Amino acid sequence: MFYFGADYYPEHWPEERWAEDARLMREAGCNVVRLAEFAWSRLEPRAGEFRFDWLDRALEVLGTHGIRAVLGTPTAAPPPWLCTTYPEILRVREDGVRVTLGHRRQYCPNHPTYRQLSRRIVAAMAEHYRDHPAVIGWQIDNEFGERCYCEVCREAFHAWLQRRYGTLERLNDAWGTIFWSQVYNDWAEIPLPLSTGGVPNPGLDLDFRRFMSDSYVSYQQEQVDILRAACPRHFITHNFMGIYYDRINYFDLARALDLVAWDNYPVNPWNAEPRADPTIVALSHDTMRGLKGKNFWVLEEQCSAGGWQTIGYAPRPGETRLWTYQAIAHGAEAVVYFRWRSARFGTEQYWHGILDHDARPRRRYCEVKQVGEELARIGGRLAGGEVRSEVALILSYDSRFAFQVQANNPEFSYPELLLAYYRALYRRNVPTDVAPPEADLSRYKVVLAPALHVVTPEIAENLRRYVTGGGTLLLTCRSGVKDVANKVVDLPLPGLLAELCGVEVEEYHSLYPSEAQPLAFTLPGLGDAGARPLARVWCDILKEEGMQAQVLARYTADYFAGHPAIALHKVGRGRVVYVGTVGDGNLCQALADWLIREAGVQPLLATPSEVEVTARWYDGRGRLFFVLNHGREAAPLQLDRAYRDLLSGRTLSGLIALPAREALILEEA
Ligand code: GLA
Ligand code: ZN
Repeated sequence: MFYFGADYYPEHWPEERWAEDARLMREAGCNVVRLAEFAWSRLEPRAGEFRFDWLDRALEVLGTHGIRAVLGTPTAAPPPWLCTTYPEILRVREDGVRVTLGHRRQYCPNHPTYRQLSRRIVAAMAEHYRDHPAVIGWQIDNEFGERCYCEVCREAFHAWLQRRYGTLERLNDAWGTIFWSQVYNDWAEIPLPLSTGGVPNPGLDLDFRRFMSDSYVSYQQEQVDILRAACPRHFITHNFMGIYYDRINYFDLARALDLVAWDNYPVNPWNAEPRADPTIVALSHDTMRGLKGKNFWVLEEQCSAGGWQTIGYAPRPGETRLWTYQAIAHGAEAVVYFRWRSARFGTEQYWHGILDHDARPRRRYCEVKQVGEELARIGGRLAGGEVRSEVALILSYDSRFAFQVQANNPEFSYPELLLAYYRALYRRNVPTDVAPPEADLSRYKVVLAPALHVVTPEIAENLRRYVTGGGTLLLTCRSGVKDVANKVVDLPLPGLLAELCGVEVEEYHSLYPSEAQPLAFTLPGLGDAGARPLARVWCDILKEEGMQAQVLARYTADYFAGHPAIALHKVGRGRVVYVGTVGDGNLCQALADWLIREAGVQPLLATPSEVEVTARWYDGRGRLFFVLNHGREAAPLQLDRAYRDLLSGRTLSGLIALPAREALILEEA
């Protein structure tokens, strides 16, 4: 069964309206809603006084229309009675100021009182809904995030550090606290990296980021334990935020959940441009699939213009449908739109729903209904299956956090570098998985690990095992620079990876924007098509004398003109490409093209750049190709054989024109 529906807030509307909403949902093909994730003040209006009657009635109305529910635990928005009775649970910001009541996400995830009150409401809900026929699963909290810098967190940080280091001697040594006279004699002396404290020790700062990430993981775990025990028939998830969110190690957060869900807003009101970048959305989907290595849900899918104070881009006709199929193409097992109807009040009155404020079904409703009809017809064919990739992109949260502490260069962004390589693969319709650095990589033909900054001996060994087993690995500058405590290694760079790469970084330069320079490729077939790639942001000058690797590209300017910039090292049946610069999109494209050719990776169909192709494989039934035109013009598409389009039922072959924002789901005819 394919789940399709909307985020619904019955508590925002008169009860007399609910049946009409459910009827319209049903008519649009909806079979699921998410409910109650911000309803704490209605579920527990006063301390310990639980009111589930209204939610029971809402579930009853929805259930009779054949609509199932994912219930949200309401802990992202503690009610006023709680925050005023226990003001100590309010989060403290980086500048040391305690947040006040009036928004959401205002709690400290470590506060024992907040944890206890969270457990109480979750246990009451779990007990009440464990056998409800309409309930199928739980979303814990809502979009975990925001660090807290309160005294409770400081003490919890001390306990976390004691578990990690055992003794203060080890901590002092790991962080190098002798620098600027920061040697700690007592755990209680250790500060939090508040913004009033200047630029903190990088070891402390990275550990604090890990600690806050762990704090949410352990806060979530308490709810998982309660729900798991009380509701064994229900799945448990949380709504993640794609590649964008950078304060929680999402691999850790996903571990205890049954499945990952996420919130997809291709063009939110804070976007600078009135258009989606489908590559970022694709990378987010692939990252969310990578968290557990399995298909996922979209629990909030954009269907309208978002807005708080100002109103953003309204998806054009066909765009919501296109984004829905893009989600499914990348592994979504369910798509739930945010939100059913635009709220008349509250901070998000301008975050539009499928229905407008006046509840009249208009264009957006018709489009959702069209998708609902299509899914009712073909949803059975779409559920299950898997995205199979021959290429993996490594996402290291340790490296991501370490670059938050020290960006290395003002132009450098770790997620942007990942995106640049991903974009080069996406352009060629090469399916790509996202994996952590410790993952078993043996099934991939190519692995890209740009700027793998923090490297442990285990990670170095994992990469070595992959390459000697025949894999093709790409690493870039700023890899292997840091140990696990965020200290710079005392080895030639790239540190623990130097031997594997067969290179030694002789010198490096952090470039100013005006210092970009062209690269000269030395290997035929690499970089000889199209625009000339640039070295920018960073230049590692590789030592040529005694170099084990073969030079692939050289610098062309400054005193290091002629020195190696990129090198290829053959190791056993495998190989490593070390790229000594951040480079531009042309460089990433040239390298990606060369790597996939050399490693024998099969791109899916070749298409114009606006057209995306992805495939989902079904055991015994082959694969379905999703062909999506993200462009604003019709695009020519050359099919390599005859296909049947599940959406239209037509058979297609040869050269076809794919209309703007159109989707095809092709099976081999
Ligand atoms: C997030 C939240 C929702 C809502 C939307 C729109 O994804 O989870 O509650 O706030 O954004 O702002
Ligand atoms: Zn706190």
